[in-house]
Amino acid sequence: MTKTALRGRLLCFADGPDRPTYIERGILVIENGRISAMGEDPALADGLVVEDFGERLIMPGFIDTHLHYPQTQVIGSYGAQLLEWLQRYTFVEEQRFADPAHAARVARFFFDELLRNGTTTACVYCTSHPASVDAFFAESERRGTAMIAGKVMMDRGAPQALLDTAERGYAESSALIGRWHGQGRQLYAITPRFAITSTEAQLEATGTLMREHPQCYMQTHLSENLREIETIAELFPWSRNYTDVYDRYDLLGERSIFGHCIHLREEERHRLAETRSIAAFCPTSNLFIGSGLFDRAALLAAGVPVTLASDIGGGTSYSMLRTAAEAYKVLQLQGQNFPAFAIFHSLTAGNAEALGLADEIGTLAAGSMADLVVIDSRATPAMAHRMEAVRSDDPLERLAEELFVLATMGDDRAVAATWVAGQCALSNNPTLTE
Ligand code: GUN
Ligand code: ZN
Repeated sequence: MTKTALRGRLLCFADGPDRPTYIERGILVIENGRISAMGEDPALADGLVVEDFGERLIMPGFIDTHLHYPQTQVIGSYGAQLLEWLQRYTFVEEQRFADPAHAARVARFFFDELLRNGTTTACVYCTSHPASVDAFFAESERRGTAMIAGKVMMDRGAPQALLDTAERGYAESSALIGRWHGQGRQLYAITPRFAITSTEAQLEATGTLMREHPQCYMQTHLSENLREIETIAELFPWSRNYTDVYDRYDLLGERSIFGHCIHLREEERHRLAETRSIAAFCPTSNLFIGSGLFDRAALLAAGVPVTLASDIGGGTSYSMLRTAAEAYKVLQLQGQNFPAFAIFHSLTAGNAEALGLADEIGTLAAGSMADLVVIDSRATPAMAHRMEAVRSDDPLERLAEELFVLATMGDDRAVAATWVAGQCALSNNPTLTE
């Protein structure tokens, strides 16, 4: 049995965005990969090897609910909106994943980059090649991470080399579910890319897969771009709206994650809420591809669970801190607020709850997996300088200001260490080990 302790400022949002659990001089005890205790009592660390993170914040690892690992070399592709961006850049790049060696190399890079940014769980699109999924999950198993991922199903509207068929998409997804869902910490997401690249036969097969594997997730794109929505209306003339297309095939539900959800009508929000479907807010992508402004307040008012996500490679940063900064700005443009505690709740417990994983990840509660990020709010000269001005006498006010500085100025440089299942996966800063 391995047992270690971390010392530092402990922070999590197990009780919601308004009630942070914050211990300024805390001890976190880790046993066999899980958190076994957290508290103030120095005796918790008696007899244990202690990693001392001093003034740094120890939080649950960040959770990214929508991104594409085959798009690491698509980031920063110039001058196109969604449909052209897919054809000109993304569909070209994804063809390279027919080569398992390429997939394995990119998967290694992708995990390095997630962990460098403090992200320990993510909902990930692979390509239509089953080998891209094998490469991804094999790398995740090596890293010990909990990941949700799946083979993209697409049987029209893209180069032939990327297309499967309704039957093949079904058969390959079934085989991958058998191979990977519940293997270690790996979870499968049935992944029809979006309704433009799936025929009705494929959407039908997707619904069948979901009924056969109700424990799996489903992820797709919804209402990202105006031309996309026009195309959907042409391809599915019987549909009342975009959400209705997925609804027709029984794809809505509490394990269904819809990326973007920007241009929804009130009745679509209502239907997403009714089915407990999840809307993933991808601010850096929405700004970069020029898709539009996510209306978080309207979705929350309708009762839709909302998560935050990077959407690499339409998105431009792996950092969930940078993602939070852009989310704040998108909401500012609409007169909506996003306070610091709500931001960090969303990156951790909020995203975990939406995914139904709050017992496993997203908090520092005893029993949770020890997937952690250690944050240095003074990581850069500009941040250290800004932090000098955090002066309130109230510890929670100081914390809120610090977190907002992190969400505004932070990035990978603020990540001092990342732990996965109780093991240090990455350390940027030396710690004092007793
Ligand atoms: N819609 C369908 N595929 C994609 C994709 O790869 N990225 C984004 N941002 N939107 C999509
Ligand atoms: Zn996406």
